[in-house]
Amino acid sequence: MTTLRATDTPAYDFASYRSLENRQLIQRIGAVKSALGDRLLILGHHYQQDEVIELSDLRGDSLQLSQMAADSSQCRAIVFCGVHFMAETADILANRPERLTERGGERVSVVLPDLSAGCSMADMAAIEQVEAAWEDLGQHIDTSDLTPVTYINSAASLKAFCGKHGGIVCTSSNAAAVLRWALERTRRVFFFPDQHLGRNTALRMGITNEQMPVWHPLSDELGGNAAEDLRRSRIILWQGHCSVHQMFRPEHVVQFRQQVPGIRILVHPECPQEVNDLADVSGSTGKIIDTVSKAAAGTKWAIGTELHLVNRLKRDYPDQEIHFLSPVVCMCATMYRIDLAHLCWSLENLAAGHPVNVIRVDEETSRWSLVALERMLALK
Ligand code: 13P
Ligand code: SF4
Repeated sequence: MTTLRATDTPAYDFASYRSLENRQLIQRIGAVKSALGDRLLILGHHYQQDEVIELSDLRGDSLQLSQMAADSSQCRAIVFCGVHFMAETADILANRPERLTERGGERVSVVLPDLSAGCSMADMAAIEQVEAAWEDLGQHIDTSDLTPVTYINSAASLKAFCGKHGGIVCTSSNAAAVLRWALERTRRVFFFPDQHLGRNTALRMGITNEQMPVWHPLSDELGGNAAEDLRRSRIILWQGHCSVHQMFRPEHVVQFRQQVPGIRILVHPECPQEVNDLADVSGSTGKIIDTVSKAAAGTKWAIGTELHLVNRLKRDYPDQEIHFLSPVVCMCATMYRIDLAHLCWSLENLAAGHPVNVIRVDEETSRWSLVALERMLALK
C-alpha cells in the first residue's frame, strides 16, 4: 500500500505531463486511484469539464461538496476539482477538531490540482475592504444589529469574519434559509460578495430594492450610499458578481420565448435580477439538475448557467430539448484550468509522498470560519 506522506518538493515536474494524451492520463489517474483506494477522495464541481467529472469519486454543487468534505472520514487526501475557495472550505471541514481526534491527529491533505483555479467573484471582496466597510457602517447603523453573511464563494478570511461577528455562510442552495436565520436575529444583513444572489433571494422574501443599497468597495464615501439609505436598509449588498452568470441578459430570455413556443427558462440566482424576474425557475446548480431530471420527455428548456453543465444535461436528457440561454460562450474559465494533466500530475505527486498544491488554511482563520460554516450546516 502506498503511504501518504508530505514532503516539500514535487517528485514530478508538470512540464512532462503536457504532452501526454488523454488515454494515457486516464490510465495513470486510474492507477493512482487503485493504489490509494479509500484514502483518496476526488471531488468534482458540476462545472468541471466532462473528463474530469468522469474521474471524480463524487460530484456536487457547492453545498453538496461542503457536506461531502465534512462527512469524509476514511480518506487522508481530498483532490478538489473545483476552485480555490472550495478547497479551503474542504480543508476547514475535513480537519475540524472532532475529525482530527477521530483520526488520532492525522490531517487530510486537500489538493487543488492547479493553483490558478480561483474565482473572480471571490476576489471582488478582500478582507481589508470588508473590515473597513464594517467600521464605516458602524458610524451610521448599529452593527450589533447587523449580521454578516458571506456566500461560500469567498476567501476563508471572510468566512472567519462572519464567524467572529455572529454571522454565517450560505450557498446558492440555502441562501433563503440563511437570510431567514439572519433576519430573525438582527434587523439587517450585510451580504457579500455576490449582489445578485443576495438581491434575487431577498426579493422573493418580500424585501424591496429600496431596502437593499449596494456597497461599492472602491467608493470613498460610505460605499457610495447616503447615510439615510443605510439606515433604511434591511440588506446591504456588496457590489460583486459572477463573471459567468452576469453574461445572461433579459433579451436572451425574450428571444427564446419568441423563437421556441412553450420554452421554459431555468436560471441560476447568480444571474442578474432582470433575468431571474423573467425566468420560470431560478435555482442553484443542484436545483437546476434536479428540475431537469424530473421534467417530462419533450420539455423545452433554455438554461442560464455554466456551459459545461448545460452541455452535460443535454447529453444526459436527450428526450428533452435543452438550449444554452446565451448566444455567447459563458464558461467558468478558472474551473476549466483543472484538466487531466493537472489532475494526473497532482495525484502522482501525492502517491509518491510529495503532495503539490496543498491548500491549508491557518488555524485561527479555520477556527472562526468553522463557526460560520457550522451555523450553515446546522440549518435544515
Ligand atoms: P452552486 O454550486 O452553489 O450552484 O454555485 C455555483 C457556482 O458559481 C460555483 O462556483
Ligand atoms: Fe466563481 Fe462564477 Fe466560476 Fe463560480 S462560476 S467559480 S462564482 S467565476
